[in-house]
Amino acid sequence: MTTTITLPVAVTKDLLTGAEWTPTDARDLLQRTAEIKARPARYATTLRGKHIALIFEKPSLRTRVTFEVGIQSMGGFVVFLDHTQARLGERESIPDVARNLECWVQGIVARVYEQRVLEEMASNISIPVINALSDKFHPCQALADFFTLEEKFGSLKGLKLAYVGDGNNVCNSLIFLAARLGVNLQIATPASYAPAEDVLADAKRVAKETRAKIGLFTDPAEAVEGAQAVYTDSWTSMGFEAEEKMRRQIFKPYQVNRKLMEQAGPGALFMHCLPAHRGQEATDEVLDGPTSVVLEQSANRMYVQKAILHALFT
Ligand code: CP
Ligand code: NVA
Repeated sequence: MTTTITLPVAVTKDLLTGAEWTPTDARDLLQRTAEIKARPARYATTLRGKHIALIFEKPSLRTRVTFEVGIQSMGGFVVFLDHTQARLGERESIPDVARNLECWVQGIVARVYEQRVLEEMASNISIPVINALSDKFHPCQALADFFTLEEKFGSLKGLKLAYVGDGNNVCNSLIFLAARLGVNLQIATPASYAPAEDVLADAKRVAKETRAKIGLFTDPAEAVEGAQAVYTDSWTSMGFEAEEKMRRQIFKPYQVNRKLMEQAGPGALFMHCLPAHRGQEATDEVLDGPTSVVLEQSANRMYVQKAILHALFT
């Protein structure tokens, strides 16, 4: 992978879904990430004098810390707004919150319950809004995951990744980015937890250009066959806690354990965005096993987010 690059500036103001970026944008972003990881000092002043608001309606370890450390290491300042006790829009309207923030800060990173909240903020202001996870998407995570895979395999073209579990926000973002990066993504979910149809339709359109393949299954063993990496996420995402008991039953056959990893093939990597629910979606043996790259995914969140900030702020 080359590390010295001249890149075009990203085409849109915001990163709300991942679908606003073309295959070229997504490729450039990964190249920029490699450059930032190799030469962080070159980016020490990219955000000089800029203040960025971090608004979180839900808890976070990785996203909050990697954005805070990343922004500060690029010379910027963080204003953290804890919204875990009161949802955005309750005290004053979402456009009013966004328009006020625009008076003082140069960008917004937000983790929200509803994707529409991000869209409403972004459409009312001219500063960038970055999705730090919503009910539908988690683009920063998927970009870090594909960067991790590229580091491991050298190239993403034709790589076979299996996703097993809930067709949730992380799964939707993996689909958008797999389509743009030419990855063969095989997804196994229970029939009524399949990924969003609009996401699949977009991926199908983009895949014509990149030759990506997106396959849907209900049998995890079929999805993992020949996969170079197996990915899972929690069965009950934040915001769906009321369904937890039912979900534990439905998703039991989707646990990633030693047997399923063996069905994938020798040396298959194990991936998880974390936090993990040990003994549910994945066993300790797999999470802590020799092919697990979960901490590398976490570490790469910061580099990929620095590349996103660079793309949107320069
Ligand atoms: N993977 C991820 O987004 O982790 P946090 O919820 O801790 O931010
Ligand atoms: N799907 C999970 C991801 C957590 C990072 C959730 O939304 O809770």
